[in-house]
Amino acid sequence: MDLYLNGQTAVVTGASRGLGRAITKELAAERVKVFATGRNEDLLDSLKTEIRETGGTEPVIFVQDFVAADAPEKIAAAALSSFGYIDILVNNAGRSRPLDVIGAEEEWAASMTLDFDRHRQLTQQLLPQFMERRHGAILNITSTYELRSVNASAVAKAGIVVWSKQLSGQLGRYGIRVNSLQPGLIDTENIRRFFTDEQRKAYAEREIPLGDFGEAQDIANMAAFLVSPRAKYITGTVAVVDGGGRHYAF
Ligand SMILES: NC(=O)c1ccc[n+]([C@@H]2O[C@H](COP(=O)([O-])OP(=O)(O)OC[C@H]3O[C@@H](n4cnc5c(N)ncnc54)[C@H](OP(=O)(O)O)[C@@H]3O)[C@@H](O)[C@H]2O)c1
Repeated sequence: MDLYLNGQTAVVTGASRGLGRAITKELAAERVKVFATGRNEDLLDSLKTEIRETGGTEPVIFVQDFVAADAPEKIAAAALSSFGYIDILVNNAGRSRPLDVIGAEEEWAASMTLDFDRHRQLTQQLLPQFMERRHGAILNITSTYELRSVNASAVAKAGIVVWSKQLSGQLGRYGIRVNSLQPGLIDTENIRRFFTDEQRKAYAEREIPLGDFGEAQDIANMAAFLVSPRAKYITGTVAVVDGGGRHYAF
């Protein structure tokens, strides 16, 4: 299926590894010019090489700690100076942060900064040009909300979903779509540190109807669709890609 993405431009945060890397590769394979940002320069370099060798559209890479106060402004300015305009924004950088029931203030603040504020601020930096061009697709990679233990990142991501819904209500008239994508357990370094192979197998057998954790490519497939013109009537929604792991029908 042609996603009609050829020639569009995108910013992807957290592009160096995991879901962001897979999303960047998938968009590049669809001939999207991606501004790929993260902290790890070696990984970003290898991403660029990998895409070049597989015939995708070579990304522009940008090394930036997203937690820095001026990161949103710097990323937006550099992306606009590279491509002139941005069609797609994928807010993906983040880190799962399980905490005790009384978590340290610094940990809560760090999660709210990385997993909520910086995405909101980067989006706000790019909104004027989306609105001026009356065109744009924003996709937020969120998280599971129904955890039974405290995870600051999941709280920040829940905030993203609410904010995303609010934005979609106001931006539809500008031709801008805003959606969220909720991964279940996907096999990346972020998640691997919490499970041994045996624990993963036992958990998947018990909790995931499709029998195992997902692959980053499973998220990239849905992400590419949601930011594409094929999804032109989809906004303000949360797409779930979790092998059936959620316990709720709604
Ligand atoms: N995998 C899952 O099962 C799962 C489930 C629910 C939600 N998620 C969400 O999906 C997103 C991607 O997760 P993942 O599993 O792909 O994680 P990952 O493999 O650990 O990758 C995280 C990405 O975020 C970037 N990042 C983290 N902190 C950063 C910072 N301070 N500045 C710049 N970049 C930063 C990392 O860049 P560097 O490595 O270059 O620092 C990396 O590219 C996250 O928001 C996560 O919360 C994942």
